[in-house]
Amino acid sequence: MTKFLLSVHVLAVIIAVGPVTVAASMFPATTRRAHTAPDHRAAVLGTLHRICRVYGLIGLLVPVFGLLTALSLGVLGDTWLIVSIGLTAAAAGVLALLVVPGQRKILADPAGTTPTLIRRLAMDTGVFNLLWAVVTVLMIVRPGSTTGA
Ligand code: HEM
Repeated sequence: MTKFLLSVHVLAVIIAVGPVTVAASMFPATTRRAHTAPDHRAAVLGTLHRICRVYGLIGLLVPVFGLLTALSLGVLGDTWLIVSIGLTAAAAGVLALLVVPGQRKILADPAGTTPTLIRRLAMDTGVFNLLWAVVTVLMIVRPGSTTGA
């Protein structure tokens, strides 16, 4: 059973977190190419935004199956896991409260988009990427864990 839960957990990471990382990272750069083909750019930005929203929601499977795996393994009280849960919550918060709304703001008023707004969005996106990358390393290294390798 644990193997099944862990498989769904890692599949959700690959299927959901991967696309959000790429789409969110492409969004600020695409916005910067402001003056070339604005109609085409709006369509691309709309698609990238939709990927971030939809796959961000699918990404909720990551903590759900992560928690089920942890329960099944009996490691819910481990420090590495508690830190990971905190960092995952922070990553989800940055995505839902800063990255997605930042994109929405740019899409709502492309003409009023300032370089500061794009820089801010690029920074928030970088923070999101860094947070989940740190969690992935924690999941593999599991510092202080006495179970498994
Ligand atoms: C609430 C948040 C999370 C919980 C409770 C959780 C829980 C777990 C647990 C219990 C394991 C099994 C560790 C073991 O075999 O001893 C695991 C493995 C793993 N998790 Fe998470 N996780 C969470 C979030 C994440 C996130 C955000 C990512 C990446 C974006 C991630 C990536 C992985 C990976 C790649 C493994 C496989 C590691 C390995 O087997 O070497 N997890 N997770």
